[in-house]
Amino acid sequence: MDWARLVAQRAAGLEASGIRKIFDLAATLKDPVNLSIGQPDFDVPEPVKETAAAALREGFNRYTPSGGIPELRKAVIARFEKLHGTRPEDVLITSGVSGGLTLALLALVNPGDEVLVPDPYFVSYKHLTGLCGGTPVYYDTYPNFTVKVPALEKLVTPRTKVILAMSPGNPTGACLDDSTKRELAEFARRKGLALISDEIYELFTYGGSADRSLLAYYPEGTVSLSGLSKTASMTGWRVGWAVGPKVLIDQMTKLQQFTFVCAPSFAQKAALSAFESDLSAAVPLYRQKRDFLVQGLRSAGYEVNEPGGAFYLFPRVPPKYPSGQAFVEEAVRRELLLVPGNVFSERDTHFRISFAAPDAKLEAGLRIMREMAR
Ligand SMILES: Cc1ncc(COP(=O)(O)O)c(C=O)c1O
Repeated sequence: MDWARLVAQRAAGLEASGIRKIFDLAATLKDPVNLSIGQPDFDVPEPVKETAAAALREGFNRYTPSGGIPELRKAVIARFEKLHGTRPEDVLITSGVSGGLTLALLALVNPGDEVLVPDPYFVSYKHLTGLCGGTPVYYDTYPNFTVKVPALEKLVTPRTKVILAMSPGNPTGACLDDSTKRELAEFARRKGLALISDEIYELFTYGGSADRSLLAYYPEGTVSLSGLSKTASMTGWRVGWAVGPKVLIDQMTKLQQFTFVCAPSFAQKAALSAFESDLSAAVPLYRQKRDFLVQGLRSAGYEVNEPGGAFYLFPRVPPKYPSGQAFVEEAVRRELLLVPGNVFSERDTHFRISFAAPDAKLEAGLRIMREMAR
């Protein structure tokens, strides 16, 4: 077989995620200090597991409607209205936020269209845009990882369709403040662009309240994506949602019918009970972890922003290392797993730390990073 001829360019042209490469390296180490993981270090809450198990036992194992089970659709809208003060027009239950991103981009991007993508970005933004035949056009958010809205002006062309935004962000944990969101929404409205707002960390914030959705600022043009991978640690269960204008949600639902079909049935049932469990115990613990690392890294000379949400830090590598990649390779040699910044960026000057890890691991990791900066 000549697979080189058969495999499509859209697959062959993709590089495996840099995170996967770190995982492969990690597999060769016995007990590394692993600060590379993008999920909370607590398990799915017990009542959520019970609901899922009951659903499986009761035979709730068939296809659900493509749009999601009615009670969950209703609950997502009600939850959104309660958190963000705006009632979205429509909802689609997706296979995680990844599913929502895929469907939103498929619904909006024609070959040749341009998507404004924040740099640093969540890894899939770049590749999903490419899979749809679109071109990612990066807007730089260094050094403080917020959106400089006036700088977007010169990036917009007649082919621009979408602005992708996230708050809190991965890999930076940065949150957009109220005035930046207002300005971004105004800009998108003036240019007639769709906003895809990735809000998966909306409840993982250290300011004491949920991060307000961009949809509240620009309801007629925003699709807001969120889900339970992070807030209920349900990464493997694949439940998320997209809320926004009915016209767009209808198109996404149609595409879901021919791709994902529906989000997992038992996990949709479990999602309802996940809404009842809350993060109020976890977030203060994560805040302590954040503070511990930010202080420890700064006192060792690292340049690092204090993130307003999520569970990542994105420090600059010390000047003696030529790149993020070089820094992370050295860290891995010292049995500390991190992710190089070039996985999330067109630059290679930073690295990502996940502080969703036990305190002892954070202490061990900090010790290694302190030695590396010396
Ligand atoms: C910013 C961001 N968006 C989307 C995702 C994907 O989430 P899901 O598991 O819901 O597909 C992640 C996961 O790391 C993320 O960090």
